[in-house]
Amino acid sequence: MDSAPAHGIGVSVDVIFEVCGGANRRPVVGPATYSKFETLRDGRRFEIRALRPEDGADLVAAIKTVSKQSLFRRFFAVRREFTDKEIAFFVKVDFVNHVALVAVIEDDGRPTIIGGGRYVVVKAGVAELAFAVVDAYQGQGVGAALMRHLTAIARDAGLQKLSAEVLAENTAMLKVFANSGLPMTTSREADVVHVALRLA
Ligand SMILES: CC(C)(COP(=O)(O)OP(=O)(O)OC[C@H]1O[C@@H](n2cnc3c(N)ncnc32)[C@H](O)[C@@H]1OP(=O)(O)O)[C@@H](O)C(=O)NCCC(=O)NCCS
Repeated sequence: MDSAPAHGIGVSVDVIFEVCGGANRRPVVGPATYSKFETLRDGRRFEIRALRPEDGADLVAAIKTVSKQSLFRRFFAVRREFTDKEIAFFVKVDFVNHVALVAVIEDDGRPTIIGGGRYVVVKAGVAELAFAVVDAYQGQGVGAALMRHLTAIARDAGLQKLSAEVLAENTAMLKVFANSGLPMTTSREADVVHVALRLA
């Protein structure tokens, strides 16, 4: 659900396939088994954990519950269908150049993906962020929690900067970044805000 966008990792899957950089950094074993518990604003507990290869079907199921507006904000296009190649890309994460976390809650006794966030290293020391939270769970602190955990992983990995491309009307995403505590600069190009967050 937190998949590939057309601007940066927001819109075009092809852009992500080209991602490289950071190849000389040491592999980080930790993030691949990442798991922390958080609390929604309504008091329910949820887990933020590393995306697993077997999450593909659940990820696609989650995307199907996301509104058109949210899909547009995430991918800069409304997409619900993804090719096998795209799905493979979303779930085949090396946790060095491509790190992906999901937010999971027990729903009717079954773990359900309610959101995801990822970063892709686009050049040495710099990674691009993307997020999506299922509409029914937006505004409950899931996006902020994903941001906190991705930031911690990025710091541990020695990254210096996180970036994102966000539609200017996407107040929630811009707020998550502004509230992250990281020094932030923005520039605007038409409807898109380029966000840069300094880690070091
Ligand atoms: C953007 C998104 C990831 C944020 O996740 P979230 O779980 O809804 O965010 P949080 O609950 O952590 O809220 C973050 C802040 O935004 C505010 N917020 C949430 N929804 C909002 C809305 N619709 N309008 C204005 N502010 C909003 C919250 O109040 C909170 O601010 P606060 O801490 O000062 O109260 C989520 O809304 C989403 O998936 N949107 C659709 C996809 C998308 O836009 N992806 C981003 C592309 S990079």
